[in-house]
Amino acid sequence: MSSPTEVVWSFGRITRRDRWRALGMRGATVWFTGLSGSGKSTLAAAVEEHLVANGLAAYRLDGDNVRSGLNEDLGFAPADRDENIRRVAHVARLFADAGVVALAALISPYAEGRRHARALHEEAGLRFVEVYVNTPVEVCALRDPKGLYARALAGEVPGFTGVSDPYEPPAAPELVVGPDTPLAEAVDDVLEALGIPRGNEVCECKVHHLGW
Ligand SMILES: Nc1ncnc2c1ncn2[C@@H]1O[C@H](COP(=O)(O)OP(=O)(O)OP(=O)(O)O)[C@@H](O)[C@H]1O
Ligand SMILES: [Mg+2]
Repeated sequence: MSSPTEVVWSFGRITRRDRWRALGMRGATVWFTGLSGSGKSTLAAAVEEHLVANGLAAYRLDGDNVRSGLNEDLGFAPADRDENIRRVAHVARLFADAGVVALAALISPYAEGRRHARALHEEAGLRFVEVYVNTPVEVCALRDPKGLYARALAGEVPGFTGVSDPYEPPAAPELVVGPDTPLAEAVDDVLEALGIPRGNEVCECKVHHLGW
């Protein structure tokens, strides 16, 4: 949907560069996609912890959290899933523009929604890193921390991704994380995909190079 003609973008008195300089870092979005139970929230939380511990602003936009507020009016029908992704993509773009690393962790099963999220960032000149948490459905169903696979396989949850609704794997993600990758290694891989130096180098880099 495009903006109505009455809507005119309001420019502030400073630029993105001014905001980023004040924070000493660059904003970006990391988009974690994968089946329910694949490990998106786990990895996003670990990346957030690492970034903040190194003085970099980061914030998780987790599917479950977003659905309990901003998107509480949405269900799981395809049109609602599309709208869920559209809204989070816009919020992530705002966070990235502000200078924060937005960590969007949503199943985001449809390729078109993820393509749109990427396009929104690219047209705004913002970095977008797609991370495919590629845990097979059999493994997710065994983990089943929310008991959802058991219910879905019993036919109690209609349109459950990977069981009764499709998951379209990313064709060209920046990073694929397999189920056997140790968490610390996966965090490092995400940082590398973002172009952030690892470990203690981050703070030094922040001071000397305005971001990474
Ligand atoms: N690499 C891993 N190895 C083993 N278990 C893991 C791994 N990553 C996550 N888990 C476990 O798998 C379960 C699901 O992880 P998590 O909640 O991060 O999945 P999710 O992708 O966010 O799922 P959802 O889409 O339902 O929110 C949790 O119990 C978590 O502790
Ligand atoms: Mg989750």
